[in-house]
Amino acid sequence: MRIPDTILERLNSQADLVAMIKKHTTLKPAGREFKGCCPFHGEKTPSFYVNPQTNLYYCFGCGVKGNPISFLRDFERLTFKEAVELLADQTGIDLPKDDHTPQQIQYKKTANKPNNINTTPNPSSVPDVDFGAKNLSHTNHQPTNTHLENLGQNDLSQPHWHHFDPNNTSAPTSEEGNLYALLDQICQFYQHQLANNSTARQYFLSRGLTEQTIHEFGLGYAPTGWQHLEQAFPYDIEGLRILGLVRTSQKGRDFDLLRDRVIFPIKDRQGRIVGFAGRSLGDEMPKYINSSESPVFAKQHILYGLYEARRAKATDFLVVEGYMDVIALHQAGIYGAVAPMGTAINENQIAHLLKYNDTLTLCFDGDEAGQRASWRALEVSAPILTDDKQLKFLTLSGGHDPDTYIKAFGTEATRTAITQAKSTSDYVYDTLKSRHDTATPEGKAQAMSELKSLTGKFPKGSSFKWWLNSDIYARFKDKKSKRTSDTIIYDSQLDRHTQLCLCLLYTPNILNQDPLVQLFQSSSIHHAHIPYEQRLHNYGLDVPPLPTWQMLHDDLAKLVSVIQQLLQTGYIQTNNNPTHIDGQAHLIMASLPNPTLQHKLTSAWREFFHQLQHHHPTANHEEISLFFNELLCQALQDALKKQHEESKNLILSEIHKRRMQLLTKWDNEHTKTQLASLFEKRP
Ligand code: UTP
Ligand code: MN
Repeated sequence: MRIPDTILERLNSQADLVAMIKKHTTLKPAGREFKGCCPFHGEKTPSFYVNPQTNLYYCFGCGVKGNPISFLRDFERLTFKEAVELLADQTGIDLPKDDHTPQQIQYKKTANKPNNINTTPNPSSVPDVDFGAKNLSHTNHQPTNTHLENLGQNDLSQPHWHHFDPNNTSAPTSEEGNLYALLDQICQFYQHQLANNSTARQYFLSRGLTEQTIHEFGLGYAPTGWQHLEQAFPYDIEGLRILGLVRTSQKGRDFDLLRDRVIFPIKDRQGRIVGFAGRSLGDEMPKYINSSESPVFAKQHILYGLYEARRAKATDFLVVEGYMDVIALHQAGIYGAVAPMGTAINENQIAHLLKYNDTLTLCFDGDEAGQRASWRALEVSAPILTDDKQLKFLTLSGGHDPDTYIKAFGTEATRTAITQAKSTSDYVYDTLKSRHDTATPEGKAQAMSELKSLTGKFPKGSSFKWWLNSDIYARFKDKKSKRTSDTIIYDSQLDRHTQLCLCLLYTPNILNQDPLVQLFQSSSIHHAHIPYEQRLHNYGLDVPPLPTWQMLHDDLAKLVSVIQQLLQTGYIQTNNNPTHIDGQAHLIMASLPNPTLQHKLTSAWREFFHQLQHHHPTANHEEISLFFNELLCQALQDALKKQHEESKNLILSEIHKRRMQLLTKWDNEHTKTQLASLFEKRP
C-alpha cells in the first residue's frame, strides 16, 4: 500500500501529538508549546518541546525531532505501516484501500477547451439539478434576462482575470493541476468579481465589514452565470469537479454550485484555501451553501477562522455558529473565534482547540436548536475533558448571535459577556433545571439520571466527574445555596492531616489493616530500593526507612495509635447508623492523650459530621475510606518528596525518587479510577 503524501500530511497534522507524548512524559505549557523531560534520552531538566500547532517535537538535549508518525515509529517502535494505521484509526482519516484509489491533490488538466461549455447560456436549458432543488427551483435563480445582462458575455469569452493563471489562456496543456493552486486562483477570481460588483460589495459593507476585513478574510463574490468557473478555468474542469464547485446535471450539463452569492473562502490550519461557502444576498434559501468534501477539504477537521485567529495570536478561543460571527468578532478585535462548517462541532475539533488553551468557550444561539447543540457539544467533548481542561458556555441575551450582539451593544459589552460565560457545572445545573421539574422527587430523579448519562462519558480517572455529580446533587438537595453545600472533605479548607483524622473518626475500621503498609505494597514502593541494593551494600548504607504516620503528622500518628488500641480491645465496630458513628467518634476523641488535639478534633468533627449528614447522607464507609486513601497518597507523596530533597547521598536520593515515581504512577492509575467507579455505584 503506497500512501499518498497528502494523507500522510493529514495524519501528521491531525494526530494528537501532545496526548501521544503525554503518555510517556509530563508536558507543561510553555508559551505556544509544551515542554517536558525528553522521553527518548531520559533527563532531569526539561529540554523537550512539542508544538501542537506544527505538530512537531524537538529535543534540545539529544536533538531528536519529528512528527507523530516518526514518534510512533521511533518511540513506540511501530512499523511505518502500523503507525499510519493507528493514526488513521485515531483521526478517522480513511486510508486508500488499494493502490488505484489514492486521495490526490493532483488532477489532469484538460488538453482542449471542453466543448460542452456554453459561452451563451440558454435560458431554456436550465440544468435539471439533482441537489438543492429548493435553491435552484427558486425563481431568483432562473437565468433571466437580467442575469444574462449581468453575465457580461465579453467577460466570459475574453477573461480579463487571465493574469491569475497564464496557463488558462495560453496554449492548451496536458500537465497536472494542483487543487490547492486551483482553489487559490478561484479565490482570486471571486475577489476580483467582488471588486467589480457593487451590489455584493454593498452587501458586506451593509453588514458592517470594513475593506480591511473583506481583504483579510479574502471575501469574494460568485457571479450569476451558470458556468462562470468553467469559463474562467477551461482547463481545470476536472479540478473544479473534484472540488464540487462544478456539478453535472442529469442532462449532462455542467453548472456552477455557487452563483450570485457572496463568498467566504475556507482555510485550513496552515492558511491554505480548501473550500468556499456562499451566502445568498437576500433571503433565498438555502442561506449558505458550502463546497463539498474533497481530498483537501475534510469538513470534520476544519474550523473557520482558526488560521486568522492564530495569526492574530489569539489566546482565548471561542466556538461560534456562523461565518459572520467569526468575522465580526475578529473585526472588533476579539480574536480566537472559530466556527465549524455549518455542522455540529465534534470531539476532534474541541480537542484541538483545548490544546491552545485549557479553557474553551462555546457560544450557541439561545433558541432551542442552539441549546440542544450546546448540550450535544458537551456530550461529545466529555470523553476528552480531563481534569486540566474545561469548557465554558455562553448564551447571549436577547436571542443575539455574536455578530448582532456586537452591533447592538458594542465590543466592550461583548468582551464582558464572553468573560461571564457559565462554568460547566453552572451550565449543567441550569440546563437540567430547565428540563425537569426539580421541585419534585420524580423530576430530580430524571435530572440525576440525565446527569449520570453525561458524567458516564467523562474519561477514566476524571475527578471532575465526581465533583460535578456531587455538586449538582448537592444543589438539587439544597436549592438556596450551591458551593457552601459542599462538605468539609469535599471543599478542603482544612489541613490534609485534619481531613485524614476526620475520615478516621468516621470509619476507624480503616485501620484494621495498616493503610500505609497497604499503600507501600500495592504501589510496590517497598521494593523500590532493590535495583540499588548492591550499591547500598558497597557503601555500607541501610535501606532508607519508609515514611511513618509520625512523619506524615504528629496528630495523625496519635489518633492512629489510639484507634489501633481501641480496635484491639474490640470497642469499635462498623455500623452505618449516624448516631453510632457519632458516638464512636466521641469515644475515640475522648481517649486521645492530648487535650489540645482533643479540642481541635472535636470542633472540626462537629462541623464535618453535621455537613456530611446534611448534604451527603448516603456517604458510606467505602466512600470515605477511598477519600482517605487518596488523601493519604498525596500526603505520602509529599513526605517522600521531602525525604528525597533532604537526602544528602546520591543513592538514597535515587531510592526516594524511585519510590515517589512508583507511588505517583500507582495513584494515577488507581485511586482516581476507583473514586470514579465508586460514584457509579451510588444509588
Ligand atoms: P445561521 O442560520 O445562524 O446564520 O447559521 P448566521 O451565521 O447568523 O448567518 P448570517 O448572520 O445571517 O449571515 C449558522 C451557520 O450554519 C451554517 C453556516 O455555517 C452558518 O454560518 N448554515 C446555515 C449552513 O451551512 N446552511 C444554511 O443554509 C444555513
Ligand atoms: Mn448571524
